[in-house]
Amino acid sequence: MAGLRDLFQEGRRGFFQQGAGAPGMSLIRWQDTFTIGVADIDADHQVLISLLNQLSETREEGQSRDVVGSVFNVLIEYTIKHFAREERLMELCGFSGLAEHRQQHQRIAERVQKYQRQYEAGCHTAVDELLDFLNNWLVEHIIGEDTHIRSWVEGACIAPRELAPAVQE
Ligand SMILES: [Fe+2]
Ligand SMILES: [Fe+2]
Repeated sequence: MAGLRDLFQEGRRGFFQQGAGAPGMSLIRWQDTFTIGVADIDADHQVLISLLNQLSETREEGQSRDVVGSVFNVLIEYTIKHFAREERLMELCGFSGLAEHRQQHQRIAERVQKYQRQYEAGCHTAVDELLDFLNNWLVEHIIGEDTHIRSWVEGACIAPRELAPAVQE
């Protein structure tokens, strides 16, 4: 399995090569309103959306179970690691909503891991259910919740290079 930095690079390449998509594909296009203003978190969110779109594409294209399964697993792995990085950043900044935010992450993580178990057990609807769930959740969570991090990062007066180790592996 590739390291996180490799995944990040792959995700970004995929994101910037993203086309408009065929009719019927539920692709999410990155918009300025998704930007929360914390570079590493924004980059992570772009990777997540790219992976979500890649999973949707492999599914629509009727790719093999191995191909769909590898994107499926990378998306889930990246989602879980992103949550950990984001929470570490919140800890460093003294973010007051950390406990509640962590609970939201936990609920989402439990749900996606449930889909992962279902997929491994051979459930044919697990990919579609994960796509439906994350398509709905991702943008809503970024715009509605993650966006609050910015003022805390700025208020913490931590230089970006000091924050970097917190959001990287
Ligand atoms: Fe979050
Ligand atoms: Fe996030």
